[in-house]
Amino acid sequence: MKQLPYLLLVFISFLACKERSTPEPAVPVKGTIAQNAMVVSAREEASKIGIEILKKGGNAFDAMVATEMALAVAYPYAGNLGGGGFMVYRTQYGEIGALDYREKAPLAAHRDMYLDSAGNYLSEQSKVGGLAVGVPGTVAGIFAVHQKLGTLPMEELLRPVIELAREGYVVTEKQQGRFEQYAAVFEKVNEEASLYTLSQKAGDTIKNEALAATLERIAMKGRSEFYQGETAKKLVAFLQSKNGIITMEDLDAYEAQWREPVIFAYKDLNVISMSPPSSGGVCLAQIMKMVEPYPLREYGPNSTKSIQVIAEAERRAYADRSYYLGDPDFVQIPIDTLISETYSNARMDTFSFDAATPSTEVNYGNLEMAEAAMTESMETTHYSIVDAFGNAIAVTTTLNGAYGSKLYAKELGFFLNNEMDDFSAKPGEPNMFGLIGGEANAIAPQKRMLSSMTPTLIEKEGEFWMSVGTPGGSTIITSVLQTILNVYEHDMTMQEAVNAPRFHHQWLPDIVMFEPDSFSEETLDSLSQKGYSIDVNNAPVIGKVDAILRLPDGSLEGGADRRGDDTAVGY
Ligand code: DON
Repeated sequence: MKQLPYLLLVFISFLACKERSTPEPAVPVKGTIAQNAMVVSAREEASKIGIEILKKGGNAFDAMVATEMALAVAYPYAGNLGGGGFMVYRTQYGEIGALDYREKAPLAAHRDMYLDSAGNYLSEQSKVGGLAVGVPGTVAGIFAVHQKLGTLPMEELLRPVIELAREGYVVTEKQQGRFEQYAAVFEKVNEEASLYTLSQKAGDTIKNEALAATLERIAMKGRSEFYQGETAKKLVAFLQSKNGIITMEDLDAYEAQWREPVIFAYKDLNVISMSPPSSGGVCLAQIMKMVEPYPLREYGPNSTKSIQVIAEAERRAYADRSYYLGDPDFVQIPIDTLISETYSNARMDTFSFDAATPSTEVNYGNLEMAEAAMTESMETTHYSIVDAFGNAIAVTTTLNGAYGSKLYAKELGFFLNNEMDDFSAKPGEPNMFGLIGGEANAIAPQKRMLSSMTPTLIEKEGEFWMSVGTPGGSTIITSVLQTILNVYEHDMTMQEAVNAPRFHHQWLPDIVMFEPDSFSEETLDSLSQKGYSIDVNNAPVIGKVDAILRLPDGSLEGGADRRGDDTAVGY
């Protein structure tokens, strides 16, 4: 509904343009503008709770804690206590860093845990139910952020969230559809009715008393409540009753890790993005380095030539991803080489505008098996925050699939992730995003599964310029990339850049996915003629980007994705 005025404006200007012989230049579409601070997230309630924390003097890190937890309440699709995520930050003093609160494989996990005795991959087991669950990192994440960079007491940050859980949040139209789609699955997987197996209609209020009580215990007792206390005991008992292998020892051993972000230059931008165990920053850097020498501005956004250059760079980066990337605590990753100019230029040597480079010629991998890509509706969520002091953060957090493993710990009020599916369960077998992996991302006890999440901050002329990120599994990296290029190369506003249609290539399967009804037949035909396999049917949306841009006058523009219920709130 929020987009209605914008759509009307576009429609009216379209009609107006048709009548005039010399069309006026299009009126730029701007997102929410604020002078001081902004939060953009997947839910209005979460953005508002974040902004309230900022208004009362908290900083972006305080707002992170409250927003993250508010999403766990009002956006159970992806917001979570039972999942994990990544945060990239830049303080008001220009210090940068990254937090990894990604889930870990349990101690009892092993490399072939999803294979039967004949070596066949039991792919459901890494996706649904107890065995799919990685050791959750989110609660450790918020406490690590709070301890290092927060300023207000934890109880104060959690108070409005507990209130939201207790007083309830209002179901949106989009949420109703998702609850309808999954209610029966929840009942089947959990073998019992719960809050989320009830029929939830748009406009209904959902109160989650169990979650309010869990959050209250965490507010009172701290981090240990989740990893050693009553919550830990209940969680382990629940998971073990569902064929899970997570123990008290696993929870006790979990630690979030501060990491060095991946930092690279694109023209005069300084891009700061998430390092392994996410592939996000490395792949984003590789793609941006590969496209940098081409005059994308001249080619125009979503033109055949731009799509070719970007898709070919994506193909090459995702091929490398599948081979080189994994948990840096377990594997050596040649990051500097992968993101270097020399390597990037050499990688594009085989590219020609005349014809697509077949993925079989770019690297190894099993084509047939990769065709099973992207069958599940999926979710993760990203939010961006800038405070009035000048601190900026980009956070992406996830349960992996929609509602994760579908396991709902009724007594605790939250869903559990199915992040184990992000491992490469068997070399050459695609995961739910069609991604293929190998040795570097094989399962091992306490290892973190490779991610595509790409929370990213950008500096221009030494100042904060943009915070950006998105859900979308394997399409995350390409959605972040295209949003940045739309602003930087094609002079779009933040909101226009987020609204713009997106496409995606990930090496295998060897197809370019396009959002439907968004690209001209002419463009798609010319790409087909050059040998690209076009898919306009299987990606109703690609990414759901939330972003903040600092404008030349110092104000902030929010870009909240029209594809979801995403909302920018500022002051
Ligand atoms: O970490 C990853 O790359 C995936 N678990 C993210 C999942 C995701 O984005 C699903 N949302 N659309």
